[in-house]
Amino acid sequence: MIAAQLLAYYFTELKDDQNKKIDKYLYSMRFSDETLLDIMSRFRRELGNGLGHDTNPTATVKMLPTFVRSIPDGSEKGDFIALDLGGSSFRILRVKVSHEKKQTVQMESQVYETPEDIIHGSGTQLFDHVADCLGDFMDKQKIKDKKLPVGFTFSFPCAQTKLDEAVLLTWTKRFKASGVEGMDAVKLLNKAIKKRGDYDADIMAVVNDTVGTMMTCGFDDQRCEVGIIIGTGTNACYMEELRHIDLVEGDEGRMCINTEWGAFGDDGSLEDIRTEFDREIDRGSLNPGKQLFEKMVSGMYMGELVRLILVKMAKEGLLFEGRITPELLTKGKIETKHVSAIENKEGLTKSKEILTRLGVEPSQEDCVAVQHVCTIVSFRSANLIAATLGAILNRLKDNKGVPRLRTTVGIDGSLYKMHPQYARRLHKTVRRLVPDSDVRFLLSESGSSKGAAMVTAVAYRLADQTRQ
Ligand code: GLC
Repeated sequence: MIAAQLLAYYFTELKDDQNKKIDKYLYSMRFSDETLLDIMSRFRRELGNGLGHDTNPTATVKMLPTFVRSIPDGSEKGDFIALDLGGSSFRILRVKVSHEKKQTVQMESQVYETPEDIIHGSGTQLFDHVADCLGDFMDKQKIKDKKLPVGFTFSFPCAQTKLDEAVLLTWTKRFKASGVEGMDAVKLLNKAIKKRGDYDADIMAVVNDTVGTMMTCGFDDQRCEVGIIIGTGTNACYMEELRHIDLVEGDEGRMCINTEWGAFGDDGSLEDIRTEFDREIDRGSLNPGKQLFEKMVSGMYMGELVRLILVKMAKEGLLFEGRITPELLTKGKIETKHVSAIENKEGLTKSKEILTRLGVEPSQEDCVAVQHVCTIVSFRSANLIAATLGAILNRLKDNKGVPRLRTTVGIDGSLYKMHPQYARRLHKTVRRLVPDSDVRFLLSESGSSKGAAMVTAVAYRLADQTRQ
């Protein structure tokens, strides 16, 4: 008994000691509330720059109008197809919205592969692939003879002048197909569908995944006016007063703005908080110099950030008795899902398992240390998102002119959903940074594609009204 107690005591001491050392080593990744409030006010300025007529052309945070003016009003109905391209998987859905006593939504979906050579090939290949998958889906659903309205979740920065047009500004995340930037994704898809000639589709709306998420959550909670993705990439949208959106005519009502906050820092405004690891990630990425905020926080980069830190610590003899293996040196060998697993309840066992696979023969101390490195990296991400979200919440509060903001934030994304501590940490920090608010965080259970169908349903209802 005494021996067990002694061992437990020794272990806690070891852990505390170890954690302190790592805290010190990674001090530049740990932010005080003062720093977070400073980042929040920097981002608040970016929001204003993106919205202003004179400042928009050079703004880094693009603040793109989406032409989505309201969340569903509950009267929508019909049979829709939703395409979802740009997240961790490519999905096609059939969404049936009906009214019995209340509005109900029925969904069937299929996931399709998007192989690396298609994502990095030509734009024609990419859209041919999307059209092929849509053809296959319609075949299976036996609806090839119908011309169903299609809602397209396309999760990239796009300039829109109407709901059914989306000019790709730049690829982000893993995508890099040639000849698409500067082109309208709707036209490209329509062309690919026509070329096949075996079915017809009516693409009525293109939405960003953040917008899809806000709409999905807005279906269940009318107060939802913010949508966030924390997955492969990260981004947010929110409902802005039309009178503040210089790029769109009209002063009445609101419009959803896709902030594209992943690009925060691309003008150098986050240099003081970026670390050598962030710079290395950027150098090795598909889009150097771009999406710098996204690279500090999102799922596509988090595992790699941890790996780069471990490599440096091992080289300095602080981990694995200085052992460095080819696996440890291989890009992509630590993934964000590993970070989540290491921070889980069974984390130490997982830590051992993952490090053993990298061949570094970890000691118990190494496993504890790696667990702490993961915590620092994922905590930094949640803190940074809390700061940018805080800026949006403050803006909403000022727009409404209320002393206390009551609102709902719709959230989706693999990192937010899979990481065991992420959501709790994010919520807690937001409440600390924006104390005069009551924020409800709503997880988008059915993803952003249902939202695309809802936007399409609204568009369809409106088009139907004008036809009559
Ligand atoms: C990237 C895209 C953005 C998307 C986000 C989440 O940041 O640029 O449009 O919303 O990833 O998928």
